[in-house]
Amino acid sequence: MSDPQTPWWRSAAIYQIYIRSFADGTGTGVGDIRGMRSRLDYLRDLGVDAVWITPWYPSPMRDGGYDVSDYRDIAELFGTLAEAERFIADAHAHGLRVIIDIVPNHTSLRHEWFAAARAAGPGSPERDRYIFRPGRGPSGDSPPNNWNSVFGGPAWTRITERDGTPGEWYLHLFDSSQPDLNWNNEEVRAEFDDILRFWFGRGVDGIRIDVANGLVKAAGLPDLPTDADGSPLEPSEIADHPYLDRDGVHEIYRRWRKIADEFDHRPVFVAEAWVESLERLAAYVRPDELHTAFNFGYLRTPWSAPELRETIDATIAAMSAVGAPATWVLSNHDVERHVTRYGRAETAAGIGASRPDDPGPVDVELGLRRARAAALLMLALPGSAYVYQGEELGLPEVLDIPENMLQDPVWVRSGHTQRGRDGCRVPLPWLASGPSFGFGVGRAWLPQPADWGRLSVQVQRDDPRSTLALYREALRLRRELPALGNGAMTWLSQTDDDLLVFTREPEFMCVVNLGTAAVPLPDHWRMLLISNPLDEGLLPPDTATWLVV
Ligand code: GLC
Repeated sequence: MSDPQTPWWRSAAIYQIYIRSFADGTGTGVGDIRGMRSRLDYLRDLGVDAVWITPWYPSPMRDGGYDVSDYRDIAELFGTLAEAERFIADAHAHGLRVIIDIVPNHTSLRHEWFAAARAAGPGSPERDRYIFRPGRGPSGDSPPNNWNSVFGGPAWTRITERDGTPGEWYLHLFDSSQPDLNWNNEEVRAEFDDILRFWFGRGVDGIRIDVANGLVKAAGLPDLPTDADGSPLEPSEIADHPYLDRDGVHEIYRRWRKIADEFDHRPVFVAEAWVESLERLAAYVRPDELHTAFNFGYLRTPWSAPELRETIDATIAAMSAVGAPATWVLSNHDVERHVTRYGRAETAAGIGASRPDDPGPVDVELGLRRARAAALLMLALPGSAYVYQGEELGLPEVLDIPENMLQDPVWVRSGHTQRGRDGCRVPLPWLASGPSFGFGVGRAWLPQPADWGRLSVQVQRDDPRSTLALYREALRLRRELPALGNGAMTWLSQTDDDLLVFTREPEFMCVVNLGTAAVPLPDHWRMLLISNPLDEGLLPPDTATWLVV
């Protein structure tokens, strides 16, 4: 619990709701606003401070709603604008703040602007809201440059003009159903100013910015440098990347910050920015820009004490240099769930194509043990933390979804070589039994493993040893103890130890054993919480504890 003078977002525990998979209140098999409203008591009792809801706008759902066709309304599948407003009010009445997701890099192909751009033809102001270019080669049938889509295949798709002739190509850094907007166009900028005001005016407390690092593209859209085989180099090998993390994005966020500051309730931003270094990330959270940014460096760090310590130190140093809080995140809707990751030989998260083809076997029991320890570590660190729905239940990644049920566009665009992200998006089990374990009245849009009843909220709720009980207690203590949340930490362990030991004032110590042998506990008054039982008085491997000292 931080000083009441400290803004809430400097210490918040924020629960990520992947809306399609949280709770289905209307029997469609897909999660929705009614489902979320019905679970507000659960979220309050869990002890989080805020929820972040993934996009809820009208969308053809080619990329789970990250393909938006109208930024000022709600998808029919999820509810209505009036229901969204009621949800915001109800969440507030439950003591929860609400963060929504905005997707400024691209719209859906079904957005009215794209229809207008198609109809208006080359060189028109309508086309200039997107990034259209003629193709290369004598008949223009090669893409305008060598950029590839993050989901696989070229980042360009050719349209047919109104007269039936093959036409211009449009850029899409993601799926072909997600055309990139042209952020050099003032009309695009003004439109998003207005969208921000639309939602801040409806009381949302924050906005997560999708692909915050991608909006600005280099003038002339130059080819990416290639290796000897002609394949584009990796982003880390390119000094002046033509579309990732360009300095021009910061001007946009300075403008957005001014808009947030117009509102008395001082809404906040969180950037989704996969960038090359913490210094680059810190630039997004300078005092006149965004408030916070996800720390993906943390989920990319393996389960190793020296490496975690290095990431933690580097994060705190980089963020405090610009006066921003650190954030911590272990899982989200784009990466393999950390129970599974921590049960593999390679415990660092990779995304999309950076994931190894054959990541090796999983020891789920080991993964869960580590995940429980990792939760106590994360929730004890200074700053704000994200909990991805289902991690409080210890859910593993679902690795065996039948291929014909995979929905992530990554599966198709990778030519069926990457299964994509559906395995971390499987709907939550609320009850021990039933067609979708209480997710809804019928079946869920992605199949749940047959044994998920034992991981359900119903089963874990009354079991003091459950992962749910551990999260609840940790989150309760996090609110109660003045030492936790915002503030500083002091290491007691050495840099090369397999132990992580740190204190926070007043009277708090966290000890995490990442080694292979059980170790004695440091002197303390009282144990507050432990992720797995002591072994003959010793702290066993892959176990964390919170102590009063
Ligand atoms: C972000 C989202 C991801 C989505 C992509 C394109 O990375 O988190 O789910 O596919 O942007 O919008």
